[in-house]
Amino acid sequence: MGQKIDLNSIPNHVAIIMDGNGRWAQARNLPRSAGHKEGVEVIRKIALAANEIGVKALTLYAFSTENWKRSLAEVKYLMQLPELFFNKFLPELIEHDIKVRVIGFEEKVPPLTQSVIKQAEKRTMHCKGLQLNFAFNYGSRAEIVHAVQEIAKKVSVGTLQVESINEETIRTHLLTAPLMPFDDVDYLIRTSHEERLSNFLLWQNAYSEFYFSDVYWPDFTTEMFFDAIAAYQKRNRRFGGVSDKKEKE
Ligand code: IPE
Ligand code: IPE
Ligand code: MG
Repeated sequence: MGQKIDLNSIPNHVAIIMDGNGRWAQARNLPRSAGHKEGVEVIRKIALAANEIGVKALTLYAFSTENWKRSLAEVKYLMQLPELFFNKFLPELIEHDIKVRVIGFEEKVPPLTQSVIKQAEKRTMHCKGLQLNFAFNYGSRAEIVHAVQEIAKKVSVGTLQVESINEETIRTHLLTAPLMPFDDVDYLIRTSHEERLSNFLLWQNAYSEFYFSDVYWPDFTTEMFFDAIAAYQKRNRRFGGVSDKKEKE
């Protein structure tokens, strides 16, 4: 482990936009799928590293609700990745007490992929270490629409009063509700030099710190992850207030 990390101030919830697989492959004259395949190995390494330093929740953006716009072949390949990942690494995750969860709109996902995901969730249900979440067919606007519909239903049948709707109500209707109390993201990392959210956890990132890495996801290393955590520990999070003693009026 990187000595630069203070184990007493680890972000609870780290979210990563794993970007750049396609460009990584293209730079090597390989098909985009080769980049996705390579990226799967990195997921394993980073999940183990996050678990090792005591991160509570790690949410990885694996497939967005907008990624259906890609070619049929690429989408098909991406839909097979959960199977590839869990077949290869589930025993190791269980060994490390890592709990798997998938957040997203599963109805559109092929039935085989859905069942692989369910199995992985079931087999790690008892795990007490890192909560490893895959955002798969996830989009934050769709998530918010879904939450609003659920809330509106409750209002229309009279189990919820309009006046009692508050931030807690919204929070508990988002797909990240099972992660509570760690549903808010503390640290958002994006690889591949892009600096945008791409519809990822809009509500949950309200006060997170951002970190952008220039490397493509398949080249992202454990050392780089620890560097990112060390950078987080130098940040001064104020949440709209004023910070520690250093700042005078
Ligand atoms: C991230 O890599 C993985 C997914 C979005 C599924 P990309 O496939 O977006 O790779 P680039 O950004 O095109 O290089
Ligand atoms: C975001 O990456 C989604 C995932 C990493 C799964 P994209 O490559 O889809 O995002 P844009 O299109 O560059 O914004
Ligand atoms: Mg991309």
